[in-house]
Amino acid sequence: MLSLGILGSGSGSNMQAIVDAIEDGRLDARIALVLSDNPSAYILERASKYGIPTGIIDCSPFRMKFPEEVQEQTAMKLKEAGVDLVCLAGFMRLVKQPLLDAFPSAILNIHPSLLPAFPGLEAWKQAVDAGVSESGVTVHLVDSGMDTGPILGQEKVPVLPGDTPESLHARIQISEHQLYPQIIAEYSKRLKP
Ligand code: GAR
Repeated sequence: MLSLGILGSGSGSNMQAIVDAIEDGRLDARIALVLSDNPSAYILERASKYGIPTGIIDCSPFRMKFPEEVQEQTAMKLKEAGVDLVCLAGFMRLVKQPLLDAFPSAILNIHPSLLPAFPGLEAWKQAVDAGVSESGVTVHLVDSGMDTGPILGQEKVPVLPGDTPESLHARIQISEHQLYPQIIAEYSKRLKP
């Protein structure tokens, strides 16, 4: 069975969707470790409720930077926990070589737009501001760019008249929670046939 490591900075609803998929048999995996760069992130509390080991990625004093030595420590923690596949779930720092080299072709990310449209922060707000009629969700392999790795799956989400960034994000999240566990399950089969 595949061991997942999850990195998140926020509420962890995508981690919850992965837990749910494991519990109801849609995903044959276990979550070995959940790490967050935000000590007060709800994702850590959610993980603890399920008895999943958690840890902090200490990037202080940097607001956005993910220092190289911290990436090395993170890779070590994930390896020690026996992680095969790393899933970024609302993780807001850019992953670079130390982590990428430790997990070649084994780091996935979920992004709240139809990449290559609207990479970066608050993609749901970017979509509303751009006035597009359609956005969506992308699951992709992580490379050293910002939301640029090979795409594994996408789902379209309509932008409705009167949508605010918040209402669009809420609709996008419904798709995320369905798509991410499904793509993780498909990709896991490629890693461990
Ligand atoms: C999700 O919408 C995810 O796609 C987004 O952050 C949210 C985290 O929610 N990620 C990014 O924007 C990454 N660039 P969650 O903590 O409830 O899973």
